[in-house]
Amino acid sequence: MKKIIVTGGAGYIGSHTAVELMNAGYDVAIIDNLSNSDASVLGGIEEITGKQPVFYNIDLCNKEDLNYCLEKEKDADAIIHFAAFKAVGESQQFPMKYYNNNVVGMVNLLDCIIKNKLNNFVFSSSCTVYGEADELPVTENSPEKKAESAYGFTKQIGERMLADVSQADSLRVISLRYFNPIGAHDTAIIGELPLGVPNNLVPFITQTAIGIREQLTVFGNDYDTPDGTNIRDYIHVVDLAKAHVKAVERLMEKKSSDNLEIFNLGTGVGNSVLEVVQTFEKVTGVKLNYKIGSRRAGDVVSIYADTNKAGDVLGWKTERDLANALSTAWKWELALKEKRDKNQ
Ligand code: UFG
Repeated sequence: MKKIIVTGGAGYIGSHTAVELMNAGYDVAIIDNLSNSDASVLGGIEEITGKQPVFYNIDLCNKEDLNYCLEKEKDADAIIHFAAFKAVGESQQFPMKYYNNNVVGMVNLLDCIIKNKLNNFVFSSSCTVYGEADELPVTENSPEKKAESAYGFTKQIGERMLADVSQADSLRVISLRYFNPIGAHDTAIIGELPLGVPNNLVPFITQTAIGIREQLTVFGNDYDTPDGTNIRDYIHVVDLAKAHVKAVERLMEKKSSDNLEIFNLGTGVGNSVLEVVQTFEKVTGVKLNYKIGSRRAGDVVSIYADTNKAGDVLGWKTERDLANALSTAWKWELALKEKRDKNQ
């Protein structure tokens, strides 16, 4: 059986990817320090797949532990690297937290990977590397702009390190640039678990709808877009997870034309904030309490993906739409409430 190491496998995208890998017949070894995730997610993965992933509670900043773990797992066929902090605003407040975790952690990981001769690497990148694009949709060749945040810069640094390492060593890399992942597993056993007040739109919507938050603020309706609100490419997390299975297969089958390949992972469709709100209300039948507020610093006006390369080369495309993603996000929020009510 082929084995895939998943750093950050207890996190939002990591846990959904672990499930898709295990459902596709892979063994999975998760490395996660649970700093932004919950151990219960591991039980959720087992409940869905009927199999237990191997789990290492290790911080990538602890190089000794990390190397011990990779030595033990050096027969793995590929590694997918999710473990990183991801809150744009927080990264502006605490940049060193981001440089330490996302950059130092990744330097350690790459050192240990090279040392233990692991050859196939999938990187969790972001459309944030494009900044405010001049032309839409963005292709993988669209120019990178100066990162708007420390978080965004850590993704640019990560890709740059991989470009250099894949030239100098025998590492084959696929970097996946995610657009806006939303939604949850159909079973509502795993989903997004934001700590504290959510920064992202969809968890804020579902928490408002369930009564945890009073009101959603739409950050600005005076942008140069049809309804004045920002446009993003919202992709179902399960679709996104499936792309990782395709990526590891491509690496293992040595199909890549280059040592480093980059793919946009989005739907190719841009939706405004108000469209997301209206679609949520339509699919759930719940009226959302929202108001229009001022712009949020650092938001790009519009971004959505050109997905041709992912379709043609990776052989992957999205199967679910915004309505489906929002209904699974809502089902997940209801499941969380049920759990809370039971524990009271
Ligand atoms: N928004 C609101 N109100 C909220 C939260 C968000 O109106 O309470 C709006 C934002 O202004 C934006 C849209 O909803 O227009 C989406 O915002 P998110 O915070 O959900 O997502 P972002 O597009 O800002 O960020 C996402 C990822 C980042 C990644 C970035 C790249 O969360 O990790 O895309 O553009 F870096």
